[in-house]
Amino acid sequence: MSSIEDVRRYWNSRPCNIRHSPKPVGSREYFDEVEARKYFVEPHIPGFAEFEKWRGKKVLEIGCGIGTDSINFARAGADLTVIDLSSESLELCKRRFKVYGLDANFYCGSAEELSKIVPVEKYDLVYSFGVLHHTPHPEKAFSEIKKYCGPETELRVMLYSKWCWKVLWIILTYGKGAFWKADELVRTYSEAQTGCPVTYYYSFKEARRLLNDFQVIDIRKEHIFPYVIEKYIRYEYEKVWYFRWMPAWLFRWLERNFGWHTLIRARLKG
Ligand SMILES: C[S@@+](CC[C@H](N)C(=O)[O-])C[C@H]1O[C@@H](n2cnc3c(N)ncnc32)[C@H](O)[C@@H]1O
Repeated sequence: MSSIEDVRRYWNSRPCNIRHSPKPVGSREYFDEVEARKYFVEPHIPGFAEFEKWRGKKVLEIGCGIGTDSINFARAGADLTVIDLSSESLELCKRRFKVYGLDANFYCGSAEELSKIVPVEKYDLVYSFGVLHHTPHPEKAFSEIKKYCGPETELRVMLYSKWCWKVLWIILTYGKGAFWKADELVRTYSEAQTGCPVTYYYSFKEARRLLNDFQVIDIRKEHIFPYVIEKYIRYEYEKVWYFRWMPAWLFRWLERNFGWHTLIRARLKG
């Protein structure tokens, strides 16, 4: 099993979405393009986060990466605290806040030992998008998160889905159908840079089990990536032939039933 140090090294070597723009890294144009590209290919994120809803509220974001969602919480007027395991990612996130003249409390460290790093207090929202399936012991992270939740706190988390198009596509494309190697294949090919040390993926039942101490308000699937990867990395957006010809309603149906992102809203059990 990979260690938290392996995870840190991986995300330090290439912070998430760092190549979402060819502009000079750290410039305003760079961050503008990163955001535009992220929400173009993952348009469900703003609806899930509901940035505007958290104006004047305390938000804790776990695994902020280079801060695309973080900056939107801050822009909307949230009182924001962020943490990430990767110092390289966090530095870029800090730089982003400076560029836009916004502020947050920044912490570097692991969600698995959150209460040793971030002062324990209750938040209105604990938000974590695409993070907790990358930590070696997600159950430890969730039991830490509980300490920051009161009865009114909302938890919004994205975890990767098990029964989804992307997993099937990875098994067929890279594993030649070797479904018994699915865990290893998903780990290897889940991210833009191959070889992610930890990537778990969950059925709804497994996700509910992981969030055992929380009452799930809503759980649903979103997101199928429809573009030709070789073109996408050149910033061209051409859909693969079968998605190009697929009616929009069918694509939406596939996303809702076989999407890669499981979006969960929950509250601590009473
Ligand atoms: C796929 S990126 C997502 C980043 C960001 N949430 C976004 O949507 O752009 C995963 C992030 O989780 C962070 N991460 C992984 N394990 C972590 C942990 N145990 N504690 C805090 N952050 C962690 C990584 O450093 C990386 O920045």
